[in-house]
Amino acid sequence: LTSLIAAILLGYILGSIPFGVILTRAAGAGDLHSIGSGGTGATNVLRTGRKGLAAATLLLDLMKGVAVVALARAFWPGLEAIAGLAAVVGHCYPIWLRFRGGKGVATLMGVALGLSWQVGLAFALVWIGVLAITRISSAGGMSAAIAAPIVAQLLGYQLYAPALAAMALVVLWRHRDNIRRLLTGKEPRIGQKG
Ligand code: G3P
Repeated sequence: LTSLIAAILLGYILGSIPFGVILTRAAGAGDLHSIGSGGTGATNVLRTGRKGLAAATLLLDLMKGVAVVALARAFWPGLEAIAGLAAVVGHCYPIWLRFRGGKGVATLMGVALGLSWQVGLAFALVWIGVLAITRISSAGGMSAAIAAPIVAQLLGYQLYAPALAAMALVVLWRHRDNIRRLLTGKEPRIGQKG
């Protein structure tokens, strides 16, 4: 039980590091909570007009997912998927920001990559593919989040698939405003004002 709590705590704490907020503040590029969707992820950083900052946010949010899985696997083998779930929850609901975080897509991709490179690759392909077709960030991210547990199940990762399904649910819940806007045709495309 101690390892379970430790794995969850590690995942949550590393996952909740708000790289987007840290980078935009350090660069004097504004307050993410009052820009666009108010989210703390790369998509909203992009709305500051700073592409480099957005790319760095994407990469760092992804790397924290990879790191959580790698550390959990090293210290508490078997608990890496649950630690990954905690990381996605931490990114979306960081205690430091009064639980106002991001939507979990980049962190989930990092977790997927850490769990299995094949699942991570499938995630990236679906994300980039849907993004290229729709130019809508949320559509790409949600599609990839849904694809991950399905691919994991198909590849025989019986232990990872349920955790990835839970992560997809967290991501979808965080996108509920985006889903509403998608259904009414009001979701902005990349480069449009959000
Ligand atoms: O990864 C976040 C993206 O899917 C949507 O972000 O800021 O457009 O709601 P946002």
